[in-house]
Amino acid sequence: MSIAHGFRTIGVLGAGQMGLGIAYVASLRAKVPVYLVDKSPVQIQKSLSLMDKLLAKDVSKGKLSEQEAKDARQRITVVPEEQGIEGLKDVDLVVEVSNLNCAGYELTEGGQAATENVNIKMSLFESLAAAVRPDTILATNTSSISITKMAAAAIPKGETAASPKGKASAARVVGLHFFNPVPVMKLVELIPALQTSQETLDRARAFAVACGKEVTASKDVPGFISNALLMPFINEAIMCLEKEIGTRDDIDKTLKLGMNHPMGPLQLADLYVPALGIRRTDDELGEALDWIRVYQSSKFCIKAPAIPSTGLACFWREWWTLAGSVRRAARGSMITKSNNNKCGLSVAVISQCTVQHRT
Ligand code: 3HC
Repeated sequence: MSIAHGFRTIGVLGAGQMGLGIAYVASLRAKVPVYLVDKSPVQIQKSLSLMDKLLAKDVSKGKLSEQEAKDARQRITVVPEEQGIEGLKDVDLVVEVSNLNCAGYELTEGGQAATENVNIKMSLFESLAAAVRPDTILATNTSSISITKMAAAAIPKGETAASPKGKASAARVVGLHFFNPVPVMKLVELIPALQTSQETLDRARAFAVACGKEVTASKDVPGFISNALLMPFINEAIMCLEKEIGTRDDIDKTLKLGMNHPMGPLQLADLYVPALGIRRTDDELGEALDWIRVYQSSKFCIKAPAIPSTGLACFWREWWTLAGSVRRAARGSMITKSNNNKCGLSVAVISQCTVQHRT
């Protein structure tokens, strides 16, 4: 039997492409008031103007009435910058969407935006759990980090995983993985942590359905179903390019026309897959990604620089190329810049990466 989500208000933490998309479907489809938090006022403004554009397009196409668009826009409230996550203290659900593609919510680690980094996510969930009501459900849009670890981080200080308060706090954490672009993609992956309660799971599912999405369930494994399959696929496409089996266009066109994929894998990697995914810790994605398996078994490790705010697409491709170099290094060949730059893209990022012997 399906249950109602029962969320009267929700918070979206991170107003990047994904966060805005989630705020958009929550407000327009689920008709729930949304409190939007982001450290960057510029990012908020960018996202709100994108929302205005999307709503205006749907009105002009007759998909929405002017009133529906106006109501959806009015359901979005921007939390004042100085309040940060404290501004979410009264909401019924928080969806955490902070990653490199959004300005995210700044935390202390290196002063960088909250990212797909397990330690940063865990401290974010610790702060979130303390900031909101004890019954607020905490969802994360992470695309591969362990939901179970985030749920453990939500246990209040002084409580344990077995104490009633500790158990209840971890039980409200769940993975809700939306896809990019959120207004268009029909799927949400629902991922329970080991601690997630059935009620949390049911309400999160009901919310995704109210947002107009179909829901699939995945166990809490690195990459869940989607990225456990997508990342090796993209990796293989990049290796195809690297080995000069085909040009970028040949590879993308083969998959588009031969297999009816809406986008080729290289185009997809450049446009929609967050580059940050690749920076996840080796234990997180290690089981899912071929290159990381190579990386783990090799004598080398990669030290990456802080990712610049521009050139994400290049970063993605070059990171994989670097991974290819590590693979070659593991086989005993030299790592050279020319090896790294087979794709013909800028070496600005990759030249800042160093490949080191594991200690
Ligand atoms: N935001 C909102 N709407 C968008 C959009 C965006 N970024 N991009 C396109 N759209 C809308 C268009 O406005 C258009 O709407 P309309 O029908 O009302 O006019 C509709 O989508 C179709 O767009 P186009 O006609 O311009 O282009 P396409 O038909 O080629 O569709 C696409 C664009 C839907 C993005 C299609 O190319 C596609 O499905 N690509 C694959 C996307 C994909 O695989 N996403 C998953 C990435 S993996 C992920 O997110 C998980 C993470 O963890 C890695």
